[in-house]
Order: sequence, then structure tokens, then C-alpha cells
Amino acid sequence: MSAPAPAYRVGLLGRGVVGSAFHELLEQRAGHIETATGMRPEIAGVLTRSGGDFDEILERSDLIVEVMGGLEPAREHMLRALRAGRHVVTANKQVLSQHGEELFAAAREGGVQIRLEAAVGGVVPIIRVIHETLAAAHIDRVHGIVNGTTNFILSEMARTGASYGEALAQAQELGYAESDPTDDVTGRDAAAKMAIIARLAFNAPVHLDQVPYEGIEDLTAYDIEYARELGLALKLVGSAERIDGGIAVRVFPAFLYAGHPLASVGGSFNAVTIESPAITEITLSGPGAGGSQTASAVLGDVISAMIPPPFNPPPAEPVVLVTDRESSFYLHLEVADHPGVLAQVAEILGLQGASIQSVVQRGLGADARLAMVMHPVLESRFRAAVELIGRLDFVRSPPRVIRVIGETFE
Ligand SMILES: NC(=O)c1ccc[n+]([C@@H]2O[C@H](COP(=O)([O-])OP(=O)(O)OC[C@H]3O[C@@H](n4cnc5c(N)ncnc54)[C@H](OP(=O)(O)O)[C@@H]3O)[C@@H](O)[C@H]2O)c1
Repeated sequence: MSAPAPAYRVGLLGRGVVGSAFHELLEQRAGHIETATGMRPEIAGVLTRSGGDFDEILERSDLIVEVMGGLEPAREHMLRALRAGRHVVTANKQVLSQHGEELFAAAREGGVQIRLEAAVGGVVPIIRVIHETLAAAHIDRVHGIVNGTTNFILSEMARTGASYGEALAQAQELGYAESDPTDDVTGRDAAAKMAIIARLAFNAPVHLDQVPYEGIEDLTAYDIEYARELGLALKLVGSAERIDGGIAVRVFPAFLYAGHPLASVGGSFNAVTIESPAITEITLSGPGAGGSQTASAVLGDVISAMIPPPFNPPPAEPVVLVTDRESSFYLHLEVADHPGVLAQVAEILGLQGASIQSVVQRGLGADARLAMVMHPVLESRFRAAVELIGRLDFVRSPPRVIRVIGETFE
């Protein structure tokens, strides 16, 4: 009889939605993993608020899975594990987007791995593709739908004509949105994920605080209706790109032309488009969250860590963060319906170098709605024009601006 395979001991920090799904999946797949790696994974201990001792779990473990969430004590536990020579697998975008450099440095110094596939895009292998598959490619740009909650809400608004509030209530009922959805709907959750993506795509130390973000709370059913008329899809988009010798990372609602690879990504799915001269463009999409999906990404990382060699992000290089850039915009105005209004708006825009590409006008009794899409223009100049337009006496409510992402990849 052959000797039993040696055990590979996994310490589990957190047994909530992801942690319990991970525990179950590990037990289901243990035989398969043993065949693939020659070691049999087993849970060495579990830490929750109500039980478990971190020091004892660390002592007994070869690898730590951190799925507790939040900044502390997750950060401290991960640092201690890495410094003690344990691999760490985490789903924690909050810690990675704010303390990533400290963790990556500890992993490099300890000669162990920190793996983070589940922190971005659930089971969609975004991190693995950027960090490993495309390690040799010079990535120019990543566009992503990296928050499933907001994508579900916008998809429902487009599909049923529901208001933002109605679609949010439905997302909460179906479990796609938490009872406090602030991080999702303000764009902060997506900003954390884009900071992590930019760190790996550009080897630049991007902190969450350096990622400007806008959310979807102010979008209305009218925006979606106009989008349809103009042949556009409305999405919450994260963008990370090289520009003017630096990088720009941000999150904003954007109209996408129908042919854009992200335009048709519906429901709670996540997707990213990675552009590089060497590969043209790759789009990855799939379920961005959920206990079993995220657990699958975590277990995939555990198996990768069981098989060396370590492959950690190298030290980051300094980089310039670009905040003003050229972009196309949609502008929505509610105005008094009389002659000359459009000409005055166009003149102010023109003085700032903004020209109108297409326009839709709708009467509303004595008022009218103007929805227009601009040719690309420097954001600061466009915002200056919008500020002036907002002060015109025939403009009935604050102008609304949404970026438009073009149909072609430059
Ligand atoms: N849920 C998803 O679909 C999803 C998707 C991608 C990434 N993630 C990430 O995965 C992580 C976990 O998410 P989750 O949804 O599984 O969270 P969750 O259901 O709230 O579970 C959190 C677990 O961590 C434990 N915990 C929290 N703070 C602790 C503390 N101070 N000391 C000890 N234990 C503590 C909790 O203990 P108790 O059981 O005692 O409360 C619970 O077992 C987060 O970083 C999240 O961003 C989640």
C-alpha cells in the first residue's frame, strides 16, 4: 500500500459567504487536488469573530486564505503570515488597493506568494491574465465593468425602463446589492479594483485615494432612453490607461458604442478589455461575484501557490498620474424651447474647442430636452463650457455630463 499523501494545511480567516463556499469546495475537490499536486489540502483552523485564534492557526498552516474583508485585522494578519513564510490568498480589494505595496514587499522579502484573483472580477481570471499570461506584453489600456451590482442596475433600467431607485430595490431583493450599497453605487468598489488592475498592468503603485470615481446614483431613465436613440449602451466603466507619459485611472458612467466589447455585458456580469499592441485586444467576461464563484477563484489560487515558484509583483516604479485627458462626452440639457438655444450652446462649446457630433431634441411643453454627443475634447475645457452653459437663463436644471467611449480602439 502506498504512503498517504502529505497534508497541505490551509488556515481560513473568515467563514462568511466566500469562506464557507471555499471550505465546502475544498472538501469536494481535495481528491482532485491531491492527484494534481501530490499533497492533500485540509483546513488547519478557522478564524471568525466568534472563534479561532490567529496565532495558533498561523502556526499550524502552510498557507493562509484571507476572506474576512475590511482593513484591520485583515492587513495585520496577512502581513504576519507573509513574514512568517506562509503564502497568502486573499479576496480583499479594500486592503490591496490601500496597502498593496506593503503586502507585496512582505511577500517578496518572505519568498512567498500573495495571490489575489478573487479580489477583482470574481472568477473572471483578470489578475492571472494581466500578471502572468500577458507578463511579456506592454499593456496600454484596460477598460472594465468591474462591479456587478451597478451593471445589474443599469441593465435592468435599460431592459424594463425602471428608475434607478426601482432597479436598486430589485437588486437588493435578488441579493445582487447589499442593504448598504454605498460602495457599489458610488463607484468606490470599482475604483478599488481598478487601482489593483493598474498596479499589475502598469507596475505602478496606484492607491485607491488616487482613483477619481463617479457612481450611478444620478443617472435617470431618460439617459438610458437617449442612449438607445443614439445607439449607445450606458455602463459604469473603470478605465486604466497609459497617457502622456503617465497613467490615468478612474471610474465613471460612460456611454459605449454598440460595437464596443463591453456594451453587451449585461446583468451582474463583469468584463474587462485589455489592449496591447502585441495582442491587439482581449476581452474576458463572467460572473463577477457570488460565494461559489469567488470560492472557485480562491481555490484556484491555493492550487497555484501549492506549486512553486513564487511569482509576486516586482517593486513598483514611480509614475505620473494624469487627471485631465481628451474624451468624448454626452451632454444633457433641459432648456426653454425657443429659437437660438442650440446655437448659443454650440457657440460656448466651440469657444472651448468642443464640437457636437450628434444631437437629439425633444419638446416638453414650453421646455425642451437636448441630448448631444461631442467629438473628443480635453475634459477641463469641456467642463469649463458646461459651467458657463449651466448659467444661461434658458437652462432649466443643472447640465448632466456622461463620458462616451468610442467605437474604435486607437
Ligand atoms: N461575497 C462576494 O460575492 C465576494 C466577491 C468577491 C470578493 N469578496 C471579498 O471576500 C471577502 C469576504 O466577503 P464575504 O462576502 O464572504 O464576507 P462575510 O460574509 O461578511 O464574511 C466575513 C467573515 O469574516 C469574519 N470576520 C470579519 N471580521 C472579522 C474579525 N475582525 N475577526 C475575525 N473574523 C472576522 C466573519 O466572522 P463572523 O462569521 O463571526 O461574523 C465572517 O465569517 C471580502 O474582502 C469581500 O470584499 C466577496
